[in-house]
Amino acid sequence: KRRYSITLLPGDGIGPEVISVAKNVLELAGSLEGIQFKFHEMLLGGAALDVTGVPLPDETVSMAKQSDAVLLGAIGGYQWDNNEKHLKPETGLLQLREALKVFANLRPATVFPQLVDASTLKREVAEGVDIMVVRELTGGIYFGKPRGFSTNENGEETGFNTEIYAAYEIDRIARVAFETARKRQGKLCSVDKANVLEASMLWRKKVTAIAADYPDVELSHMYVDNAAMQLVRYPKQFDTILTNNIFGDIISDEASMITGSIGMLPSASIGKSGPGLFEPIHGSAPDIAGQDKANPFATVLSAAMLLRYGLGEANAAKRIENAVLDTLNRGFRTGDIHSAGTKLAGCKQIGEEILKSVDSQVPAV
Ligand code: NAD
Ligand code: IPM
Ligand code: MN
Repeated sequence: KRRYSITLLPGDGIGPEVISVAKNVLELAGSLEGIQFKFHEMLLGGAALDVTGVPLPDETVSMAKQSDAVLLGAIGGYQWDNNEKHLKPETGLLQLREALKVFANLRPATVFPQLVDASTLKREVAEGVDIMVVRELTGGIYFGKPRGFSTNENGEETGFNTEIYAAYEIDRIARVAFETARKRQGKLCSVDKANVLEASMLWRKKVTAIAADYPDVELSHMYVDNAAMQLVRYPKQFDTILTNNIFGDIISDEASMITGSIGMLPSASIGKSGPGLFEPIHGSAPDIAGQDKANPFATVLSAAMLLRYGLGEANAAKRIENAVLDTLNRGFRTGDIHSAGTKLAGCKQIGEEILKSVDSQVPAV
């Protein structure tokens, strides 16, 4: 039997609801492949603040580092929105990404045929879309210094941040993106703002130079404003997108809607070594928290990414992905992806239906 230790970080809002579903699915899919998990549930975000006074307790960091992989729900909520920077749930998440050195964030936006009608785009625009956003995750304006608050010469309050990339940071994320594109359709579009920002000018120069090592990949560059427009005009032009931390954050939320809902998009955050961090791209959805309305597919698909990218357990990952498709085929939908002729279900029920689908599958090949 293969054994893995997994740190679970349910977090806030709908986080605990979607993590509970994903944990059960992981456990069952794993057991069918001879895998045994030991789960360690730890505190992060607002849940950690309320108990320990900090958004990322030391015990959470050390458990995460000792684990084979980390699965996260979501963090954040109105009650902490006015906290000082270092006491925000979001700060805890950023510190965790930094501590695990997971600089590469893979966010696949795949339109499942079953959900074409849930897309806000026309069928012919959405059908067949399959984009991988490779987002730089531990640099750029999120972490750049100087940052802070100050007072200007007029005695007015100012807030400031720094968009900054060092060559080595661009190099390592670009290589992940080229490798990713190579295994897909061989097309890479690097999205930047090189017409305005120095950090983007260096980004474009480095990415162009690195392309020489990947002659089989077709590289293009696009400004982020155009990319935002092209994503809803003709999304099928994209295969793999490489971009910085903040553009990747925004573009992946936009891309998620093509697939029907932000509740469908998983992600994998990977570093050079050590455990990966796996989380849906959505937040804690405080507007629907505690109502059993959350779409758990993004977190369940993040668990599949955990198996594939984090543990190298492709067969178990495939079991989960097949079970998601089977559940969709059988018509079950949460409210965010519900359309005429499908069965409206809550988070818990979707979880039970996914388990049935996992159970009924023939072994993956
Ligand atoms: P959000 O992603 O939480 O919600 C945006 C909208 O999408 C809401 O209407 C919500 O109900 C809906 N939604 C999101 N996930 C859903 C799901 N699984 N099923 C059904 N509907 C879903 O973004 P927001 O409202 O801007 O932020 C809320 C809080 O979450 C904030 O505190 C923010 O900082 C935090 N946040 C955390 C993460 C994370 O933990 N990685 C990501 C984004 C936002
Ligand atoms: C995400 C979120 C986070 C980000 C926030 C909560 C720090 O929006 O994971 O997409 O901006 O990276
Ligand atoms: Mn985001």
